[in-house]
Amino acid sequence: MKLSVPLLAGAAVLPSVAAWGGFGHITIAYVASNFVSDHTATHFQTLLRNQSSDYLANVATWADNIRYTKWGHFTGPFHFIDAKDDPPSSCDVIMERDCKSEGCVISALQNYTSRLIDADGLLPAIEHEQAAKFIIHFVSDMHQPLHTEDVAKGGNGIHVKFDHKFLNLHHVWDTSIAEKIVGGVRGSPYGAARQFADKLVDDIRTGKYQAETKNWLNGISLDDVEGTALIWARESNAYVCTHVLPQGPKAIMGQELGSSYYDDAAPVVEIQIARAGFRLAAWLDLLSAKIASNKAGEL
Ligand SMILES: *[C@@H]1O[C@H](CO)[C@@H](O)[C@H](O)[C@H]1NC(C)=O
Ligand SMILES: *[C@@H]1O[C@H](CO)[C@@H](O)[C@H](O)[C@H]1NC(C)=O
Repeated sequence: MKLSVPLLAGAAVLPSVAAWGGFGHITIAYVASNFVSDHTATHFQTLLRNQSSDYLANVATWADNIRYTKWGHFTGPFHFIDAKDDPPSSCDVIMERDCKSEGCVISALQNYTSRLIDADGLLPAIEHEQAAKFIIHFVSDMHQPLHTEDVAKGGNGIHVKFDHKFLNLHHVWDTSIAEKIVGGVRGSPYGAARQFADKLVDDIRTGKYQAETKNWLNGISLDDVEGTALIWARESNAYVCTHVLPQGPKAIMGQELGSSYYDDAAPVVEIQIARAGFRLAAWLDLLSAKIASNKAGEL
């Protein structure tokens, strides 16, 4: 089954029912490119066949573009995990309860991580490339709180207003809040995303996140992908109780979320984008080191 990627360009304009908008995903990819090791950068520039400094950003939204195609349809459930918790009184992600039989963002990270490592060397290069693109996207997705929540299809069924536009809550968290933080994004998101990423990289290196970033990699392990992903998904899901639906869904239906709701939500979106980028870099570093050591073992 051949994937005809060039034919899929139009898919990007389909309504975004899931996933950070392009701006969020691309920002996360740029943050990650600032923290990967030189070895990792070379490894993924080669695998993704893009030698520019945009090699991660360039594929950050690929998984959203293919999911609406016939070929990519099976990947739809991989973008989220529908936690059947009860916000705002209780939030949690439980693998057995929440990961559907067709898969979820956690099982997908597990699957594509092991396919990228490909310990038995069975897969062709194109599968490694696809696995890398899925990983780049799904680490990012699990940091959007509404990608870890079942209520109203991850907020897609909660209709609200944001700066006088009628939108659903999922879209507000994917796109509207992040874009408002930078004063709006018009046209191609790459320039604005790079600028936002540069600011977040400074916040991580020397600014407001510096003290806490050492905790951002707690529990990270290629030997326990599910455990690692659960730490990230639970942290993200906890925001559903505190910031996304702090008074339950009914309290925000039809309400304007562009002012005081936004003021509380923006720092959450910002730190989640920073964490996702920082963790994605660490994950890619672990992967490229593992792949190199497997290769060395074969010689
Ligand atoms: C690399 O990524 C950049 C940014 O998206 C893109 O403009 C460029 O065409 C890509 N290069 C190749 C060889 O695909
Ligand atoms: C793992 O990835 C392959 C290739 O995309 C896919 O065919 C398979 O269904 C996936 N398995 C799981 C459990 O997600």
